[in-house]
Amino acid sequence: MIQQEIMRVISQQEIARNIYELTLEGTMVKQMNQPGQFVHIRTNPGLDPLLRRPISIAAIDQTKQQFTVIYRAEGKGTNLLAQQTENSQLNVLGPLGNGFPLNEFHPGETAILVGGGIGVPPLYELATQLHKQGVKTIHVLGFQTKEVVFYEQEFAEFGETFVATVDGSHGTKGFVTDVIEKEQLDFDGLFACGPTPMLNALQQRYKDRKGFLSMEQRMGCGIGACFACVCHVNEPVNGKDYVKVCSDGPVFPIGRVVL
Ligand code: FAD
Ligand code: FES
Repeated sequence: MIQQEIMRVISQQEIARNIYELTLEGTMVKQMNQPGQFVHIRTNPGLDPLLRRPISIAAIDQTKQQFTVIYRAEGKGTNLLAQQTENSQLNVLGPLGNGFPLNEFHPGETAILVGGGIGVPPLYELATQLHKQGVKTIHVLGFQTKEVVFYEQEFAEFGETFVATVDGSHGTKGFVTDVIEKEQLDFDGLFACGPTPMLNALQQRYKDRKGFLSMEQRMGCGIGACFACVCHVNEPVNGKDYVKVCSDGPVFPIGRVVL
């Protein structure tokens, strides 16, 4: 069930350059059970900016009724969000969308989790939940440069973790696809979240494999009402040649969406 709730800020800290980890508390957490879902946050109590900002759920703690998001402060909304401190209140709508399907992987299988920049956060809760069901995970995380790398150690606690940076300042120089090829990584299927060019490269290479891609698309309402987030699909689904990323996704089977 989707809820709108005034949630309390438990903590906020900058964990890499302009990358913030924000933990919120509220009853909405009870509804959060699928990695890859997102929340739509009003970044200011006033009306400017009017539009909420969609941010993925990075970690869920049901016992404390808390969840964590990780975001990059870059534009007006996310810079306002970065100013929030402990005990501030935020208007949050969620949990939204359809996340990563866990039942497609079985105990003993290996999933590769591929993240690019601010696409990395939802993969953390995904790794947590896959491990609970006995699925092995390999992580390949791509960033622009060393200063914006985050959660390398946290992912490493779950399994093999590779980092690529575009400028070569940390890990392998290049893109996530370069790492997968160079390391000759073997896997039963993949999950990915990140910028469209990265998803497109993975879709081209692995479209015949079991895989799920989470898309970052500009959004308005976040609940399927405004059509701001529409994308074309390769084959019509239920007679329609488009999907709404907010309510049909943000996660789609590899090959479904035109990237
Ligand atoms: P502004 O330039 O002020 O934003 C202007 C408008 O553009 C806003 O409506 C904004 O929502 C939209 N917009 C700008 N860039 C993007 C983008 N890349 N994707 C979607 N909308 C955009 N970012 C994170 O840092 N961490 C996350 O976990 C995360 N998860 C996301 C999950 C989903 C399902 C989607 C769709 C996006 C996610 N994003 C995430 C991207 C994030 O929503 C944008 O970076 C953010 O909205 C930009 O807002 P701004 O105030 O910084 O920029
Ligand atoms: Fe309004 Fe998707 S954001 S329909």
